[in-house]
Formats: sequence, structure tokens, C-alpha cells
Amino acid sequence: MRGVPGPRSVAAHWDLYRRRYRYGEVLHELWTRYGDVVRVPFPGRDIVLLAHPDGIHAVLASKAHYFRIFGQDMLRRITPWGLVATEGQVHDENRARMMLAMRKILARCVPEMAARACRHRLAMLQDGDTIDVGSLARDVTLGVAMAILYPATDDTPPTRPDEGEFAARLSRSSAWLLGLPLPLQWGAFAIDTRGTLRALGFQRKFRRQVGEAIQRARSRTVAEAPGDMLSLLVHGSETGGPMPEEFLADNILNLLLAAYETSGNALAWAIWEASGRPAIQARIAEEGGTMPDDPGAHESWMNDAHWIDATLRETLRLYPSVWTLCRQALADYRVGEWLFPRGTVFMASQWVTQRDPRWFANPFRFAPERWEEERAALAAGGSSNPKRPQFASFPFGAGNRFCIGKATFEFEGSMLLAAFFRDWIAEPVAECRPRPRFYATMRPDSPMMVRLRRR
Ligand code: HEM
Repeated sequence: MRGVPGPRSVAAHWDLYRRRYRYGEVLHELWTRYGDVVRVPFPGRDIVLLAHPDGIHAVLASKAHYFRIFGQDMLRRITPWGLVATEGQVHDENRARMMLAMRKILARCVPEMAARACRHRLAMLQDGDTIDVGSLARDVTLGVAMAILYPATDDTPPTRPDEGEFAARLSRSSAWLLGLPLPLQWGAFAIDTRGTLRALGFQRKFRRQVGEAIQRARSRTVAEAPGDMLSLLVHGSETGGPMPEEFLADNILNLLLAAYETSGNALAWAIWEASGRPAIQARIAEEGGTMPDDPGAHESWMNDAHWIDATLRETLRLYPSVWTLCRQALADYRVGEWLFPRGTVFMASQWVTQRDPRWFANPFRFAPERWEEERAALAAGGSSNPKRPQFASFPFGAGNRFCIGKATFEFEGSMLLAAFFRDWIAEPVAECRPRPRFYATMRPDSPMMVRLRRR
């Protein structure tokens, strides 16, 4: 690591520790100062930030076989057979099944469940209310996650707070309790220890509930199976065979962890950024006005809702819920003039690279129109943005770990934005200043209060 740019002083280590919840911002500062390859101060481990899209492409996709996911040990403790925790052939087989199941439920139930969750939550709003759009968005995405994962029963409530709390707490949990040496969890002893203990305690209850849901799914015939993820995986007739018992619960748990907070927090930022910007809201409302009541017609509506699509893209550029991906080299690995030893951890940070002015003009400005202009240029036969490399924006990752829930997010996101701004004008409460906080995923550090006026 000799000669690799980056701070070396004890003060730099201390600074990183002191600002552990602002980790993304610290990385951004390091990149501004030292460039595209930076040695990140961390005791006892070689960690390197790679900020150029080409380097990111190599680590995540084209040379992914040189790396393993760093931090997987923690996931193995919680869900050893879940998609996120497995590797190699086991991962590939697991993933193929999950992708097939995901494709089926996208066609069968995601639009309907997303519409239901939005209707249910938005029906509670009243003219003149002051609400936290963070909790609104997370309620909706938890409702969708639960509805698509479990077999529906008449008494299934649209949201199940226990699971939500479990997932939220795990994403903020204490590193040392989970035994992980994650660089992003510097504040090991400071982070929500009581919450972590409760989350781990809750895991037993969660597993029991999933076990009961598996029995319920088994007791139905394939014809009766309602089309949720669990039923599809249990029966396996459409997903290349039934999923082995030990994989089932772990994968459902993985999906909950991967689906709920990521989507909920992204949508919270989207509504927050649009609040107080009448022009953005008006254009979402205009497209929202054409949203069909029939969930079956949502996909084609979504394909024409260009402004809403641009708003979601811009949100994930500026507020990537997954703000960094860490990979550990399995062999010596060369980047430019440096040869890094086996074991080096490479960080590809969405937060840093997606704010690079080389690829995005005015990178700190929330500007959905940048994506709209690119779409128009493409439609006119030009190129979207000739100078921007493909991996300048990678909110859903890349390669054989690419997010399997992107389309689900797009459904629930476009429906929530459309249904919310079609009926409401939102104004931010002046004293409210949420900032990103960097846990395993990124979430706002405070409520995002807005005042509602009926449109
Ligand atoms: C804003 C919303 C979301 C964002 C930003 C996001 C981001 C990501 C990213 C960056 C990865 C790659 C992780 C890596 O390379 O290590 C990933 C993987 C994954 N995501 Fe998402 N995700 C979102 C929503 C969802 C949803 C809604 C679901 C499920 C319905 C989901 C399920 C998964 C799963 C299962 C994986 C693991 C894939 C594998 O390891 O093969 N995600 N996600």
C-alpha cells in the first residue's frame, strides 16, 4: 500500500471515527482531495476507495471472480443460506430460482399489492396534517414487502410492525454483536446496541412466523397458491424445483432486509426533495392523474411516466440507499500503477461516484430534468450522454449481484409518488433539516416533516 494516496495521520483515523455516521461525506472529502484511488484510514485493514466508474465496473462485474463480498460473515450469521450470504454455485442456483419467482410475482401481484399498500396508507392523510414522509414511505414499502413475500390470508394486515422494526434495527445494528469487521460500522460500540439485542431476540419470533407461513403455503395446492414469493418457492413448479427447506426462511428474511429499508428511505428522500418545489410536484401530479385504477395496466402507464421515472433516478443518484459496496480481493489485484495484496478491501461508493462533476453537471442539485433530457436525446437517435461511463451511476449494483428487486421498487415508487402528489401538495416544515446517516444502508437522521394541503 506504500505510495497509494490517502491520509496517514492518527488525526485522520480519529476524524473518521468521530464522523462515523457521516462516513459517505468523509469518503467524498477524501476523494476530492486524493483522487480516484484512495487509501482509507482504518486500523488493521487495507481499504481502498475506487471512485472511477471503470474501476468500479471491474470490481463489481467484469472481474468479480477475483473478489468476495466483504461483510458477508455478518450475513452468514443471520441467514447462512440466503441469497446475499451465499457464494459461487450455491449463489448462482439460489439466484436463478429467486429471479424466476420474482418475475412471476411482478406479473401477478406486485402492482396490485403496491396499489393496495399506497391506498391503505394514503387514506389516513387529512388536509392540514403535518406528517413524517419518512415513516409514510417506509410503511408503504413494508406493506408491499410483506404482501409479496407471504401467502395472503384474510387477516394479514397490510403492515406488520414487528418485521419492520426487526429489519430497521438490523440495518443499524452494532458491529461487534454481529461479529463483523465492517469498515462502515466504525462506531461499533456506539450504534444502537439495545436495538440490536432486541432485533436478534426478535429473529426467533420471525423465524417461527415464517415457519408457519411455509406450512400454510405447503398445505395449498399449486393451483390454490396465491402467487406470493414464498408459495412459488415452496412449490417450485415454476421456479426450477422446490427450494430446499433451509434456504426458504433465510431467503424470505434476506428479501425483507433487502427490500424494505432501501426502498422506503429512497422514497422518503424523493418526497422530501419534491416538497417545497411546486414545479416538480405539479409534473408528478400531472402524470399521476393518468395512473389507471386497474393495477394490470400499471406497467404500460409506468413506461410513459417519464418525469416520475426521472425523479426516482435522480433520488437514487443523490440519495443512494445502498451507499457503498465492499469487495475483498482473493488474489493480488492491480489498479493502474499499484498492485494491491490479496485481502485488500475495495470500496465502490455510490455516494461518492454519483456526485462526481465529471459525469453530472451541478452534482449536488436535485434535478430530475437531467434524466429527462437524456431520454429525449436518446429518443431523437443521439446518445444519452456520450461522456458519462455506464457505471457513473450504479444504485442497484452490478454484475451477478445486481439487485433483483429493481422493478419492484420502480412499481411501488412510481405508484406512491403518483398517488401522493396527485392529491396532495407538500410543504417542508421550515426547521426540519434531515441529513443522511450512513449505516449499513443510508437513512435520514431525523423525521422529514411536511405540511399537507389538498390539491
Ligand atoms: C431503492 C431500492 C433498492 C436499492 C437501492 C437496492 C440496491 C441493491 C444493491 C446495490 C444490491 C447489490 C448488493 C451487492 O452487490 O453486494 C442489491 C442486491 C439485492 N437486492 Fe436490492 N435494492 C433495492 C430494493 C430491493 C427490493 C425491493 C428487493 C426485493 C423485492 C431487493 C432485493 C435484493 C436482493 C435479494 C439482493 C441480493 C442479490 C444477490 O446477492 O444476488 N432490493 N440491492
